[in-house]
Amino acid sequence: MKYAIIMAAGKGTRMNSDLPKVMHQVAMTPMIELLIQSAEKAGASRIVSIVGYGHEIVEEAMKNKCEFALQEPQLGTAHAVMQAKQLENLKGKTLVINGDTPCLDDKTLALLYDELDDASMVVLSAIPSDPSAYGRIIKNEEGYLEKIVEFKDASENERKITEINTGIYGFDNEILFEALKEVKNNNAQNEYYITDLVEIIKGKGHKVKTVLASDSEEVAGVNDRIELARANKYMQKVINESLMKAGVTLIDPNNTYISKNVKIERDVVIYPNVYIEGNSYIKSNTTILPQTFIKNGIVGSNCVIDSCHIIDSEVKDDCHIGPYSHLRMNSVVDSKTRVGNFVEFKNTHFGYESRCAHLTYLGDSDIGRDVNIGCGVVTVNYDGKNKFRTTVKDGAFIGSNVNLIAPITVGENAVVAAGTTANHDVEDGDLAIARSQQVNKSGYGIKYKNK
Ligand code: UD1
Ligand code: CA
Repeated sequence: MKYAIIMAAGKGTRMNSDLPKVMHQVAMTPMIELLIQSAEKAGASRIVSIVGYGHEIVEEAMKNKCEFALQEPQLGTAHAVMQAKQLENLKGKTLVINGDTPCLDDKTLALLYDELDDASMVVLSAIPSDPSAYGRIIKNEEGYLEKIVEFKDASENERKITEINTGIYGFDNEILFEALKEVKNNNAQNEYYITDLVEIIKGKGHKVKTVLASDSEEVAGVNDRIELARANKYMQKVINESLMKAGVTLIDPNNTYISKNVKIERDVVIYPNVYIEGNSYIKSNTTILPQTFIKNGIVGSNCVIDSCHIIDSEVKDDCHIGPYSHLRMNSVVDSKTRVGNFVEFKNTHFGYESRCAHLTYLGDSDIGRDVNIGCGVVTVNYDGKNKFRTTVKDGAFIGSNVNLIAPITVGENAVVAAGTTANHDVEDGDLAIARSQQVNKSGYGIKYKNK
């Protein structure tokens, strides 16, 4: 069996934040969530996050995504792993991952599981351009791993070593929990270091080895907001390059923000300053124009999305949406529709080939096929206490500046005259008109002007 432990109990003092460090976002996703996803993809069947500082926030955000173990107080990385008591005594392979290495790819984790076929402990090392304050990998003359020395405990010569500990490890699970019992805290920080396990496990006669990461940026730790920005940039580059290789055009990849789980098909064109996050899915041949924000949105093929917000909603094929439309709360727009300037849909189903081109609010509505919604139509769906639905059936024509006071149904091929405030149903094929009669007074215009 394959397991993973994510160490996420630390405060992250250098972030200078009220938020626990692992909740800070990289490519619009909390760091801990990215690691959970990578561990899952690498084959981990159980994932335990060690939480401590701000644990309520982490537990709430990640509930149903992993298991938790509480570490209080936080006495170091070995002490953190000891808290994963639910994994003790199980046979299998366990990865232990620093919660602050958000860019870690699932392929790298899968490699660590494989390397455990022939070792009891594997340390993922790296040679970054700046080894700064990372723990140093100390090897013997034959090139075998001897120990890891924390920067704060390292001698001047040890600090010159450029190969560092990434804080990502693999273990035989039973050997891990046996060895943890022997970790001591006699070091510069009086902490229980996970890195001491190298010597302890070797001392028991088991094989311990390093695997050098191919890309040191992928495994870089985030300790402050400068490193957070760096991780963000790196992650976005990786995501954007993989999209471009898969046939997506990004006009300016340096200014396009897409999170890791988003799916985008071939021949989609994305303009700068577009944000697409969550479980969004954009289908082939669609163009997304600047200043669009999509979160958990599905957009069909051959659409144009022009400066829109689409949140928890779906647009089917061949639609033109925008500029400046806002679709939210489970709205669904069927194919071949036109939704235009300053139009908001909330929890609304908008039917095939219908049109709603200007300045409209449709909330809690079911709009049929081939319906025309004029400029400035408002569904009056809320009486201050309850929300009510509006139904407009196929072929109906709603004139400009109409208020539809819900609950209300406008029948098939019915017409509601411009300026009407309708508060009861309109039968199929009927015309509803509710506005005061116009009176024209001869010559009064000139008289008024000359006053
Ligand atoms: C750690 C490693 C160091 C390595 C570096 C890579 C140790 C002793 N050192 O140092 O060799 O080069 O990562 O980035 O492990 N955490 C807990 N509980 C604790 C302490 C830490 O859950 O009691 C978590 C933190 O939330 C964090 C992770 O463990 O996600 C690493 O802790 P951090 O303090 O950042 O370790 P480093 O000093 O960076
Ligand atoms: Ca760190």
